[in-house]
Amino acid sequence: MPPVNPVAPHRPTLNLVGAGRVGQTLARLWHLHGSFAVQDVLTTTLSSAQAATGCIGAGRAVDQLHALRPADVWMLAVPDAQVAAVARALADQHPAAPPAIAFHCSGALGADALAPLAARGWQVASAHCILSFASVPAALAQFPGTPCALEGDPGACAALRPALGAIGGQCFDVASADKLLYHAAAVFATNFLPVLQATAEELWQSTGVPAALIPALRASLLRNAVANITALGPQAALTGPAARGDTAAITRQAQAVRAWDPQSGAAYEALSALALRLAGHTGDNSAAPAAP
Ligand SMILES: NC(=O)c1ccc[n+]([C@@H]2O[C@H](COP(=O)([O-])OP(=O)(O)OC[C@H]3O[C@@H](n4cnc5c(N)ncnc54)[C@H](OP(=O)(O)O)[C@@H]3O)[C@@H](O)[C@H]2O)c1
Repeated sequence: MPPVNPVAPHRPTLNLVGAGRVGQTLARLWHLHGSFAVQDVLTTTLSSAQAATGCIGAGRAVDQLHALRPADVWMLAVPDAQVAAVARALADQHPAAPPAIAFHCSGALGADALAPLAARGWQVASAHCILSFASVPAALAQFPGTPCALEGDPGACAALRPALGAIGGQCFDVASADKLLYHAAAVFATNFLPVLQATAEELWQSTGVPAALIPALRASLLRNAVANITALGPQAALTGPAARGDTAAITRQAQAVRAWDPQSGAAYEALSALALRLAGHTGDNSAAPAAP
């Protein structure tokens, strides 16, 4: 027999300070799943907060920090440069607020960016979801399976782990001391790709490669590189002069690139040294000289 007058389980309340791509996506998913009761949403203007609550499908838009009511969990999904200031303002404006859980979503900052709240007894953490939140609709569809790095107070991480897991996040722990290096890895893995591509395309253009051919070059080289790295791993997928241990060719090319653009030349040398190390040619001076 079904229970009579079942009591709905208490859903922890969630306040948002900052509700852009990341804030809206996570809050919408949590609202749909029922993990949190989305309560108050603060952004830089009332109209953007109202747009955010509309997208989330829940929550009350507010335009002042002091209008935020106490909540169990606070998500500070503001740009990195605003995290510390928002935490300080929150601690100053809500000195009597009961200690809660607060987290930010930055990959580069640690939970210590929320120190003013920790000093008031709050449990603080960072939760970095490794996804390009290009737009809210795209991120909503792409979020399931996203790895999420948790770092900070054990109590805060223990609360966030099941909440992120419930919406498809795959949580893992990162030590606070490793947070900067962890995020630098993500920069290597994704942010440098457009930089390398842009440099290559400038070089091609400067050497007379027809502009009309460049989109096809970009598409085929990137597609093949991704397929090879995915299938074989980075070391086996490496090709080019470093894979062959051809240090003479690397030296001559580095000089040519330096003459074209000193910064690009320095990058070429640094990346070639890493490529030689990846190929196992570190300290190997036996590379065949390049053909003239
Ligand atoms: N985008 C990504 O791919 C990605 C991936 C992983 C992690 N992250 C991290 O997630 C965090 C948020 O990034 P995002 O891409 O979601 O940023 P975003 O789309 O630019 O949204 C930032 C939000 O913060 C609000 N805001 C800015 N300053 C504020 C302040 N002082 N007080 C209250 N609200 C403020 C903005 O208000 P308005 O709406 O009024 O402008 C906006 O709602 C960052 O720490 C970022 O590093 C981003």
